[in-house]
This record gives sequence, C-alpha cells and structure tokens, in this order.
Amino acid sequence: MRVLVVGASGFLGREVCRRAVDAGWSVVGTCHSGDISAPGVTARRLDVTDRAAVRALVAEVRPDAVVSTPYRYDDWTVTADGAAYVAVAAAEMGARLVHVSSDALHAGRPEPYADDDPPTPVNAYGAAKAAAETAVRAVDPGAALVRTSLILGEGSKQIQLSRDALAGRATLFTDQIRCPVDVTDLAAALLELVDSAYAGPLNVAGPDAVSRAELGLLVAERFDLDAAGLKTTTSTAAGVVGPTDVRLDSTRAAGLLRTRLRGVREILAR
Ligand SMILES: NC(=O)c1ccc[n+]([C@@H]2O[C@H](COP(=O)([O-])OP(=O)(O)OC[C@H]3O[C@@H](n4cnc5c(N)ncnc54)[C@H](OP(=O)(O)O)[C@@H]3O)[C@@H](O)[C@H]2O)c1
Repeated sequence: MRVLVVGASGFLGREVCRRAVDAGWSVVGTCHSGDISAPGVTARRLDVTDRAAVRALVAEVRPDAVVSTPYRYDDWTVTADGAAYVAVAAAEMGARLVHVSSDALHAGRPEPYADDDPPTPVNAYGAAKAAAETAVRAVDPGAALVRTSLILGEGSKQIQLSRDALAGRATLFTDQIRCPVDVTDLAAALLELVDSAYAGPLNVAGPDAVSRAELGLLVAERFDLDAAGLKTTTSTAAGVVGPTDVRLDSTRAAGLLRTRLRGVREILAR
C-alpha cells in the first residue's frame, strides 16, 4: 500500500504516518510551513491552495490512498478549497480518499448527531469544513468523510489549552460540549478506513461527552495540577460564535471498526 498523507506535519497527520510506517506501508507525507522528521516517511512540501501543485504531486506519487488532514482555522482557502483540490487530484489517480472533517460543522443541540446529519455551521470554520465535505463528496462519492472531535494525546493543543486555563492564561467554556478522541485511536481508525470501502460521513469520536471546562478538570487530575485556578465562562458570555453542545454518536464506527474508540475519562485515567 502506498499512502499519501496530506498534512503529515500536523498533530494527527504525524500519528497517521507513524502507524502507516509501522504497518509496512510506503508513506509519503506533506508539510507546508512545518517539517516532517518521521522515520520511514518521504517528505514533500505542498501548499494545498495551489491546485496545480496538488495535482502534480499526486500524479507523481501515484498513491493507492490519500489521507487528507490540512486545515487552518481562519483560512477558508486552505480548509475548503484545499480539501477540494486534494479530492480532485486523488480522483484523477483513482486513489482511495479518506478526508478528515470536524464536529465543528454542526451548530449544537441537546441530541447527539448521527453520521449522516447535514451540516448546520454557525461560524466560518464550520462553514469551511462543511464546504470541504460537499466538494469532496461531489468529486468522489466513494470517499470517507471522518467527522471527529477534540483530538487528545501527547502534544495535543486541546490539552495545552486546558493547561493554559489551569494556569490562568486562558478560559474554558462550560457550554461547549464535545466527545474527545485519542489521536492514536483516531489514526488507527483512519488507516482501517483506508483499507475499507466506506463512503460518506462517519462520526469517529469518543463515547464520553464533556464540556471544555470539564476537560480542564480531567487534565488537572491527570497531571496533578491545581484545579482551583481554572478559569471558565460561557461562550455566550464571551461573545464567541461557535457550536455549543455537539455530541457525535459514533455507534456506527464502533460497530464497523476494530479500533476501540476510548472515551476521555479512559484516555486521561492515571
Ligand atoms: N485538533 C482537533 O482537536 C480537531 C478537532 C476536530 C477536527 N479536527 C480536524 O482534524 C484535522 C487535523 O487536525 P490537527 O489538529 O492535526 O491539525 P494541525 O496539527 O494544525 O495540522 C494542520 C496541518 O495542515 C497543514 N496545512 C496548513 N496549511 C496548509 C497549506 N496551505 N497547504 C498544505 N498543508 C497545510 C499543516 O502543515 P504545516 O504545519 O507544515 O504548515 C499541518 O500539517 C483537521 O482537518 C481538523 O479540521 C481537529
């Protein structure tokens, strides 16, 4: 299996590469402003907003599969257009595509979201992730669209945000509920999906729903940090427009995949 990991310098992309190398796959990974120093990974620089460059690289690598992870929170061109260009290039080569999407394309509501629930974005990032999905599906109806939630693990920016809030340098919202997933579980799930014919959206997140503030308390417990300093508020009070209560129902993924998706309490257990 020859796999092209687009965004291999990122938190998730790095773990996908590591596991793909361990599985004996031939791995080409792309970076943009960062670097890739993973053993066994052939590194290539790529700007996904450059349509011609994306097509040229995919045509040169001729991968059996492409795992597409790039995004920039505040950059529509990277998150939406870039995902579309990767899908076009993969389809031209007949490569299997696994595209990484997000729970951020939902508005938030008390009931959990099913895999096929249509996007209801409330901010620019969610809209870009929704647009990316629409483009990918239009180009390649056979692509897997993996909707995930807060990604935890060593080097996670979500854990760092909790640490910052515990140190009084950031504030965590009590009204943003998510279903965190471990980066190793998510990467394993993505590789399983590469090897499958699953088409369309699939929720791949942990079974435990917690607020960002509750995540902060779990991080404090896990790393023996003083929870007394935790700064919290609501997104409404902070004037932040974003999804509130977004619980991804990952029952389908749990039945489909060998990888067990652990909940946040198990991930952060001491
Ligand atoms: N992190 C989370 O908690 C979370 C939650 C839900 C969904 N997701 C989704 O999961 C995916 C991966 O997230 P992550 O946390 O691993 O992100 P990350 O660590 O920020 O990595 C982002 C990747 O995108 C690449 N990139 C940015 N601009 C690019 C450009 N113009 N051309 C090519 N590549 C570019 C970066 O390359 P350089 O660093 O080399 O510039 C990096 O490899 C994203 O699609 C995100 O929407 C993440």
